[in-house]
Amino acid sequence: MRFQHICVLGLGYIGLPTASTFATHGLRVTGVDVNPAVLHSLQNGEAHIYEPGLRTLVQAAVKSGNLSVSPQPVEADAYIIAVPTPFKEGKKADLSFVIAAAEAIVPVLRRGALVVPGPFVEAREVAHRHEIPARHL
Ligand SMILES: NC(=O)c1ccc[n+]([C@@H]2O[C@H](COP(=O)([O-])OP(=O)(O)OC[C@H]3O[C@@H](n4cnc5c(N)ncnc54)[C@H](O)[C@@H]3O)[C@@H](O)[C@H]2O)c1
Repeated sequence: MRFQHICVLGLGYIGLPTASTFATHGLRVTGVDVNPAVLHSLQNGEAHIYEPGLRTLVQAAVKSGNLSVSPQPVEADAYIIAVPTPFKEGKKADLSFVIAAAEAIVPVLRRGALVVPGPFVEAREVAHRHEIPARHL
């Protein structure tokens, strides 16, 4: 499958550079975040976090016209989930943010779309628990 439109959920230290890099390489990207302050700063062409070179990259992505932001997921060819996975007791990952993001995708998820549930996450675990067809993951 050829990916033309990617939806990145979570625009923090992982998601924002990822979304911006895809956008500056010609893909259409919708960046999604639940924090309105994050969306507001990006709409003004500013990065809300500091990483060397990130501001320049974000501004290039916005200027390219390929990066837009949204408070909720949209239909896309691929989804990258880059939301927090804090540790719980016993060094287990708290997947509640990932689960919330996966559930938000379901209404717009179409057959054949790719879902990348993020680092440290077993795709099939999310699919099994939330009845997302495993072929999507
Ligand atoms: N930062 C790193 O250096 C690093 C390195 C390796 C792995 N990771 C992993 O990458 C993942 C993301 O980490 P990060 O550092 O980018 O986190 P972050 O805290 O910088 O950013 C996460 C963003 O996700 C947003 N968010 C929370 N719930 C959401 C939802 N349901 N839908 C959309 N957006 C939502 C938050 O508002 C926040 O802006 C985590 O699993 C983390 O463990 C991070």
